[in-house]
Amino acid sequence: MTVYVMQPDEAIAAMVAPEGRLNPYPLYEAIRAHGDLVQVREGLIAAVGYAECSRALREPQFRVQDASSYDIVYPEWRSHSSLRGFTNSMLFTNPPDHARMRRLVTGAFTARRVAELRPAVERMTDQLLDRLAEIGADGSPMDLMNEFAFRLPVAVISEMLGVPEGDQVWFRAVAADVMIALEGLTTLSELARADAAVDELSAYLGELIDRRRRTPSDDLVSALVQVRDSDGDRLSQDELMGNLTLLLNAGFDTTTHLLGHGVLQALERPEFRARLCVDPDFTVNYVEETLRFEPPVQATSRWAGADVNLMGTEVPAGTKVLVLMAAGNRDPRRFPQPDRFDPDRPDIQPLSFAGGIHYCVGAPLARMEAQVALPMLLRRFPKLAVAGTPTFRARWLARGHNWLPVSIG
Ligand code: HEM
Repeated sequence: MTVYVMQPDEAIAAMVAPEGRLNPYPLYEAIRAHGDLVQVREGLIAAVGYAECSRALREPQFRVQDASSYDIVYPEWRSHSSLRGFTNSMLFTNPPDHARMRRLVTGAFTARRVAELRPAVERMTDQLLDRLAEIGADGSPMDLMNEFAFRLPVAVISEMLGVPEGDQVWFRAVAADVMIALEGLTTLSELARADAAVDELSAYLGELIDRRRRTPSDDLVSALVQVRDSDGDRLSQDELMGNLTLLLNAGFDTTTHLLGHGVLQALERPEFRARLCVDPDFTVNYVEETLRFEPPVQATSRWAGADVNLMGTEVPAGTKVLVLMAAGNRDPRRFPQPDRFDPDRPDIQPLSFAGGIHYCVGAPLARMEAQVALPMLLRRFPKLAVAGTPTFRARWLARGHNWLPVSIG
């Protein structure tokens, strides 16, 4: 009997196809069957091991895709406003410009600043829970993603940036389309949707920037506008727009799904739910395990700027390395029984915020939001229950639910 072995390139094609996106985890295992660092085809290597992903993210010779690499792989990229927009942000910039941009915002996300924000996040959570209590009072099902998981992170990042409350709900649909541009392996028609969304968001941000220029306030948009106006060498107008687009979208489209995954796991396991309500140390581990198990950002990629030996594998200059953090998080060499959701695991350290110089700026904030929101939600509604079949949105890279029906009892 011949056993069919899926090839790495087939697994990658399946993973970004509509069906594979719904559950990419078996496809990561199909790649892992060929090794922890796998040649997919000429010029493309995939990292699926924990150590391999970690090293790839920290390798100084590996670069993120920037304007010059886009010129090589997709010369028409400038005709897409979404690609132009993000390419001006720190996430698509290499040293030395990367550090210049990153330095301008990191001060707002330090552990100390995030700890100071905690009471405000508790207050925002309380307000949202009051609202849930009202709309769910008759016991009818409601979508937790729309009514809670998305509203909290958007309220938090909007407060930091200085986005008025009335504009926040509009962001969800726009951001979902903006984020398509980060998917990388996407289609032209999807990219057209991302372009339209980025155009809409840019017009909005342009107005916000003008308002803050006229009337500055104590927020990040005002601070960045001030840097831009006092010294254009530290931040150009395009970079200002690119980084605001990044912060606004990365700031909630990801944390939303951390909350969604976290709530769902707890609703399915009463023992975890009970401990989340009373044990802050358990909650910290629980959030880490949720990040490991269902990373809201499944992967990223790097380009070899020179020939590199990566843990014994020769990676020629110009090779693209697909860093599958979600697969690294399920590496059985690092996590025994990786497909088991187990918040009692020691030393979790998921790869979900990436690593190296592009390590997620908002990691302390996202963690804090989840550590605050999950226990508060579960304590407030002891009868909270899933009230229908949750569905995943049709995205591979930014994985999460688009519909999570619950009732509050
Ligand atoms: C659960 C929530 C989050 C997840 C899973 C997440 C994930 C990531 C990942 C994987 C990267 C690195 C991508 C790469 O190296 O190619 C990243 C970068 C980034 N994230 Fe997050 N993120 C989250 C929340 C946030 C929040 C709340 C913010 C803040 C506003 C934020 C802002 C950023 C920024 C600005 C970068 C670019 C950093 C750089 O290029 O130096 N993220 N994030």
